[in-house]
Parts: sequence; C-alpha cells; structure tokens
Amino acid sequence: MDLQNAEKKINELRQALNQYNYAYYVLDNPTVTDAEYDRLYRELASLEEEHPELITPDSPTQRVGGQVLEMFNKVQHESPMLSLGNAFGPEDLRDFDRRVRQAVGDHISYVCELKIDGLAISLKYENGLFVQGATRGDGMTGEDITANLKTIRSIPLKLNDPLTLEVRGEAYMPKRSFEKLNQEKEENGEEPFANPRNAAAGSLRQLDPRIAASRHLDIFLYALANVVNIGVESHSESLDWLEQLGFKTNQERKKCASMEEVISFIDGWVEKRPHLPYEIDGIVVKVDSLAQQDELGTTAKSPRWAIAYKFPAEEVVTTLLDIELNVGRTGVVTPTAVLTPVKVAGTTVQRASLHNEDLIREKDIRIGDQVVIKKAGDIIPEVVNVVPEGRTGEEQEFRMPEHCPECESELVRLEGEVALRCINPKCPAQIREGLIHFVSRTAMNIDGLGEKVVSQLFAEKLIKDVADLYKLTREQLLALERMGEKSVSNLLAAIEASKINSLERLLFGIGIRHVGAKAAKTLALEFEHMDRLAAATREELTSINEIGEKMADSIVTFFEQEEAKDLIQELKDVGVNMAYTGTRPAAVSQSDSYFAGKTVVLTGKLAILTRNEAKEKIEALGGNVTGSVSKKTDLVIAGEDAGSKLKKAEELGIAVWNEERLVEELSK
Ligand code: IVH
Repeated sequence: MDLQNAEKKINELRQALNQYNYAYYVLDNPTVTDAEYDRLYRELASLEEEHPELITPDSPTQRVGGQVLEMFNKVQHESPMLSLGNAFGPEDLRDFDRRVRQAVGDHISYVCELKIDGLAISLKYENGLFVQGATRGDGMTGEDITANLKTIRSIPLKLNDPLTLEVRGEAYMPKRSFEKLNQEKEENGEEPFANPRNAAAGSLRQLDPRIAASRHLDIFLYALANVVNIGVESHSESLDWLEQLGFKTNQERKKCASMEEVISFIDGWVEKRPHLPYEIDGIVVKVDSLAQQDELGTTAKSPRWAIAYKFPAEEVVTTLLDIELNVGRTGVVTPTAVLTPVKVAGTTVQRASLHNEDLIREKDIRIGDQVVIKKAGDIIPEVVNVVPEGRTGEEQEFRMPEHCPECESELVRLEGEVALRCINPKCPAQIREGLIHFVSRTAMNIDGLGEKVVSQLFAEKLIKDVADLYKLTREQLLALERMGEKSVSNLLAAIEASKINSLERLLFGIGIRHVGAKAAKTLALEFEHMDRLAAATREELTSINEIGEKMADSIVTFFEQEEAKDLIQELKDVGVNMAYTGTRPAAVSQSDSYFAGKTVVLTGKLAILTRNEAKEKIEALGGNVTGSVSKKTDLVIAGEDAGSKLKKAEELGIAVWNEERLVEELSK
C-alpha cells in the first residue's frame, strides 16, 4: 500500500479502535466482538510496522511501551494537588455545612461523589493529545508515570476536542483484578498486597509498563485542574463536560439541596458499598457552584468547599481459634490471634496482633471467643472486642507462658514495661528476626530477600548471622523452594549491591538496642567509620545532640562484646563497607512522600505501631520527628490520652492526626 493510502487506512482504523475501546472501557457497553477488535488491531499494527514513520503516540498500539524506565522523572504540578478535610460522622458534616453557609449564604447545592479508594492522578492533554500523567506526590511535585497510565484503557489517548487541559482523578484497582493478583502472588510465595489501594499504587510505581498493563487498573476523573473557559458554572456541569470529552467519570453522583439530603445519600451507600466492583472509603461532598467554590477558597492543604466523609473501618465477627506467640528481634514475646479466616476490607485475615497480656486481660479475650476484627488504617488487622453473647462456656482464658516458646529460657518483664521478653541472646527466634530486620528496606535493603526466604535459609542452617548472607552460593540458593535461575541471580546481585551501602544502613541493620534509623544516621555522620564508633567513649557519645545516656550505654556495651567484634571483622572480610558514603536512595522516593521535609511530633499512647516504629517509618520517608510542639511543627500524631502537646498543637493551629490516619499515609 502506498504511503497516502496507508495513512488513510491507519487513521480509519485508529478512529474505529478508539471508539470500540471507549464503548468497552468507559461506557462498559461493548459494540464489537473481541475477535473483531483484535482483527482491526492486528491490521493497524501490521500497517504501522510497514510504515513506522506513521506511528504516533496516541495510536491504540502505543498503550504498552516496550521500554523499561530507569526512574520516574519529577513533575511540577501547575496547581497544587490538594487533599480533603475529613468528616467522621453527621455532626462533622453539619459543622461543615454551617461554615459554608456562613461564608456564602444559604443558597447552596452540594454534589456527593463516591470516594474511590485508589491514588490521585493528574493527566495533561495538549491539543487533545495525552502528553503526561503524574502521581500526586507531596501535592506540589509528583512523579511522571505516563507510560504506566497509558496502559489504563479508559484513559483516552486523544480527546474528542483538540483542547489543552489538565484533569484529575483517582486511579484504582477493581476488586476482581485485586483478588486475582493476590491469588497469583500467594501462589508464587510472594507477599500479597494489603488492599486494592496499595496494589494500585504499587502497580503504577513499576518501571516496566508491561507490569502495570497486566494489573488491569482503571480510573475515574473527578475534576479539572485549571479553569478553562468552557462556559460551565457548576462542578456537576464540569463533570458532564469531562464525560463528553471522552473521560470516564463515576455515575453514582448526586446533587443534593441540603446537608440532610447528603446524609441520607451517605446512609444509602453504607448498604450498597459491598456490592460495588471497586473499593470506596467514603463519600466526597462538594459545593456545586464554581463561583461559591471560588469565594470559599482553600487553606494551604485543602479546599474549604469540599469535605470527605470517611466510612468507619469495616468490622466483622470471627472465631479466635488460638493464641500464638511470636518472639521479636529484641526478644519481646507478642501474642497473636489465630482466627477463622475472614474477609475484611478486601483481604482475608487469619492473624491479628494482640499486643500484650494486659490488653488480652482488659478486653477479656478468651480462646474460642467470637471476636470483632477490623483493619486499623485499612492495613493492620486487630481485635476490637469480644462478643460476650457468643460465649458457650467452653472458652479458655489465656496466660502468657513463663518460658520462651522458641528457646525455653525464662521470660522476664523489664521494669516499666508491659511486654515479656526472652533475654537469651542465642534465642533462635531473635536471631532469625534480626536477620529479617538486617535485609529489610530501611536497613540494608536487599531486594528479593523477604521474611520467607530468610526463614528458610535460617532453618536450613545456611545462615546463622548476617555475615553468612554474604557467603551464600548460587548452588545453595538454587536448592531452595521456588528459586529459579533468574531469582537467584537477582538475589545474589542485590546482596552484592548492599555491600556498598553507607554506614548508617549497616549500623541500623545490625540492631544495636535503642539505635533506630535516625540515630544510626547521626552516628554515621558523626563518626564516619565503624571503627571510630566502636572506639567511642560514653562521654563522646553523649556529647552528641541526639544521643542520650541510654543509647550511649547500649552502644558501648555492644562494641565491648567479643561476638560483636567478631561479627564486624567477618563483615569486613566479606567486603561490606564500613564507612559513611552518603545515603543510597531508598526504594521509595522520599520527596514523593507526604512526610518529606515535614516536622512531626508523636504524642500520647500509640496502639498500632510502637513509637520507634512510627518514628523510623516517618524518617525513612524523609520526615523529621521531634519531641516538642512549636510553630515549626507541621503535624502532630495524637495517640490515646494525648495531653499538653495536643493542646498546644490545637492552639497553634497545627494539623493533628490520629494513629490510623498516620498508618494510612505511611502505607501509601
Ligand atoms: S476531590 C481538591 N473527589 O481522596 C480536592 N477526591 O484527600 C480534590 N478521592 O487523594 C479531591 N475520590 O484523590 C475528590 N470523587 C473524589 C474522590 C477523591 C477519591 C481522593 C483524592 C485524594 C483524597 C482526598
């Protein structure tokens, strides 16, 4: 075919395919058979192969790029991507309504939309062509994930009008795709995703667009980013307009004349929610008039014209079959509930932490009980309470044992602690957990070495301490379950790569008591080499700002032990770097996190995370955790019984989150 005819045919095919694609993925109303679609697609692909000069980025054949990216580029958002204030009950909504009325008078309509549980995305079009898609990031700067977004078939590569605009919406993973993906993961012995939101975010963070393509993601668009003069006066009209342009919007929206009508709309969704093919975590309520939106304006973080009503975490009842004991890397013995498997917030739960014996007493939890389970922050399963009416009298009270379930040495309760500890330094459970910690993302960050592989290596006696990891051979790894040539090569490369980590990762990884990720960084910067730190005196250590007496003692004691000296020597012998060389970028880009550059204060009792865990996680994402609230504080996390710090934060108008909100953000 000559060039002119080919071009004509190509254009016809593209137009037809785009139309079929739109009918299928946006309208959910297929107009041709799959076979017919495939036939036209192949015809287009072969014509394009003959005339590569005619390939354009908006061709339906260009959805899945063949190239694997090296990294995601940063994207500066033209206008910030804000988040929403939350409402947890009807009273919060009525308060919001009062604030709105005070500002703009009583003539108000609201639009209610489903709050899709995915991740916020921005899409840019130039002259009608999709040119760039980005994550929200910190609201100002996101990451360019165009190649992955192109694989979402409901995103039009070309609009019905050659317009230049930016639209925003929520990318998500439908429940069915999520279940299929997790099933595959489990079959491959991989860790399943905790919920569809994490799965969607994880899929869009893949550098190889073919992976994103295989995950069957979808999107709903809910806003225009820049106000283009399109003659619409309300949010609901702008959604209709987006729809006409070819975008997928959510149909379950409703215009309401009063807040009471909004509240009954929300009530209706509590029932209907489980039947949706995707997860929602609430209802977004927006003032409809754009003029009123303008008048209300925004705060630094969120618009004053919208609020997100959050559904309470889903609670389900199941049976507590048993209480299992787990020994952590510091010897703390934690009771874990073993449950009849039950589905909560998208995944099947069969275990939940019970934290400690006091909590079990307090809630009077007995083996055999019917218990209420929820996922805190949609992530971590926990036992809320027991259902006393479900008791038969056969239930058994639980007592913590006196001896370590792994090594049988006597457990002790250290002064001022609720937890029971095994203090035998040779306890195999502690060693195994220490190894898992060493390879983890915040420590040496060895990809492909998860909990399961480490446990297997330890059980097979292939590793007894962290230095042994560096002596593993290809043959040894190949003999393990589910380890093919490729994964072994990748794993060996990851182990090798970890040798050049900067000192702070190693210091954190070897697990000196009380030395968290941040202290490890401080120590690495200060002493620059393991040997200098090992020779440091207590006085030298405490003279450093952030190092207290307890930590200094622990460091000195650690390096006095013969075992520690031998271990460091062994690590040196296998070629592990002992010097501070600046930080290797973490797997999660820090600047993309909410916490990047923010100063955070933790106060009150935390229930899901330990303080240290919370601190480490926030710091790993680029945040700075300090002890006191001041004007410089960006965020306060208030646990139970928070007191003066919380009060001060409120006086200063600083954002305050509960722990669940923290966990939610940490897991994004
Ligand atoms: S409007 C300027 N509408 O919820 C406000 N957000 O903090 C823009 N979300 O991550 C948000 N469904 O991505 C809006 N129908 C909806 C939504 C929605 C989900 C997400 C949004 C953001 C979070 C709000």
